[in-house]
Amino acid sequence: MVKIAPSILSADFARLGEEIKEVEQGGADWIHIDVMDGHFVPNLTIGPLVVKAVRPHTNLTLDVHLMIENADMYIPEFAKSGADIITVHQEACVHLHRTIYHIKNQGVKAAVSLNPATPVGTLEHVLEDIDMVLLMSVNPGFGGQKFIPEVVRKVTQLKTMLEERGLGDKVEIQIDGGINAETAPLVTKAGATCLVAGNAVFGQADRARAIEDIKQACRL
Ligand code: DX5
Ligand code: ZN
Repeated sequence: MVKIAPSILSADFARLGEEIKEVEQGGADWIHIDVMDGHFVPNLTIGPLVVKAVRPHTNLTLDVHLMIENADMYIPEFAKSGADIITVHQEACVHLHRTIYHIKNQGVKAAVSLNPATPVGTLEHVLEDIDMVLLMSVNPGFGGQKFIPEVVRKVTQLKTMLEERGLGDKVEIQIDGGINAETAPLVTKAGATCLVAGNAVFGQADRARAIEDIKQACRL
């Protein structure tokens, strides 16, 4: 069944511990943490201190999405702070293979993200080395944006590439941006295994219901 990773970007930062407990009890599978540096993306969010503060409040996988330049410099600190999986952007890493192993050497799972305009073929030579590919379905930087449907074709292409290499069960396909009960089934039918949802979960009064609505829509 598809995993749901609520993005805390749309949570109430003044009540973060309680917000995370609420989605954990409501059926969330992972907690997605969006890290932005004001350079790679036009927004600033949070750093390792927040990951560390959140860690004792949940046993769920902390899925840390780095939308930053110079990721190598910060990876050890995010790992020490309690990240279980660290995602870097292909577009922000000159030596992507080295960065992937830098993450894995910290004992953390490694993932690579692609912006909407970046072809999946750019990951052809690192697919064996990673635990997850994150396909962005919005241009990264902000929550609450509109889903870009072209990502569905990228999911199909990526799934084929993975299956050709016998990696179909090993590498997660995560989608991030504009996911809700309407858009979720489009990507899960194509092969996505984990969905990030910010506004569609934390923007709703009943978070458990919101998570169940997305999961239910993917079952139909
Ligand atoms: C966008 C972030 C997303 C964002 C998703 O740059 O990477 O994780 O929080 O938010 P929604 O689900 O509201 O599009
Ligand atoms: Zn994200």
